[in-house]
Amino acid sequence: MVKEQSNDFLEERAWLSSICDSQSTEELKNKYDNWANNYDTDVQKDWSFMPSAIAKTLSQLLPDKQCSILDAGAGTGLVGEALAKEGYTNLTAVDLSEQMLAIAKEKQVYQSLHQGNLEDSDIFSNSEKFDVIITAGVFAYAHAGEKVLNNLFSVLKEEGIFLLTIREDYRQEMQTALEQLSWQLVSEEAFPIYNEAKLMYLLALKKAIIINS
Ligand SMILES: C[S@@+](CC[C@H](N)C(=O)[O-])C[C@H]1O[C@@H](n2cnc3c(N)ncnc32)[C@H](O)[C@@H]1O
Repeated sequence: MVKEQSNDFLEERAWLSSICDSQSTEELKNKYDNWANNYDTDVQKDWSFMPSAIAKTLSQLLPDKQCSILDAGAGTGLVGEALAKEGYTNLTAVDLSEQMLAIAKEKQVYQSLHQGNLEDSDIFSNSEKFDVIITAGVFAYAHAGEKVLNNLFSVLKEEGIFLLTIREDYRQEMQTALEQLSWQLVSEEAFPIYNEAKLMYLLALKKAIIINS
């Protein structure tokens, strides 16, 4: 787990410094379980623009509203709600935290919801692949890293779209891992976040067709 460096914008946001200080996956899960009831309110100011930005970007890249979408690290379902508003109907949620998923379930936008750790390579059955995978707020300090990226890549269909948000400093940590996989950057937007202290990127990558020789 890569740890967050202390900074002014973190001091103003106790929730952000708390989750990014987690020392283990178990600790992170417990923190999200305890935070679930207040999550939507606490992140409103900094994050409310992002779920709809994700849904809009996806509708430009893949207008087929029946495509299969995995919301990996779905949390309380903010992204699922925005996707449903945009007309997407085939949504699967996965998250570490049962309590975050319980809130997501109440929103009634996911066809199925699963508790699990995205670091486990056997979390999906071998045959299950998605047209789209979205990770919003998941590639972050003390959250997901290269292992999760590789697991998700393996359940993305060829020519499928991987949409992720990633902060500028964590993007540098992940750059090599991102570049090692067979996909192409098809969209990149940058949004100032946390009172403009940081940039948050919204990236879309399209998986290449694998040619077996
Ligand atoms: C910042 S929240 C983002 C939630 C939601 N995507 C959103 O945009 O509001 C990060 C979520 O990722 C989940 N998460 C972090 N690491 C995970 C892992 N290894 N496996 C599954 N879920 C994970 C957390 O439980 C949490 O719900």
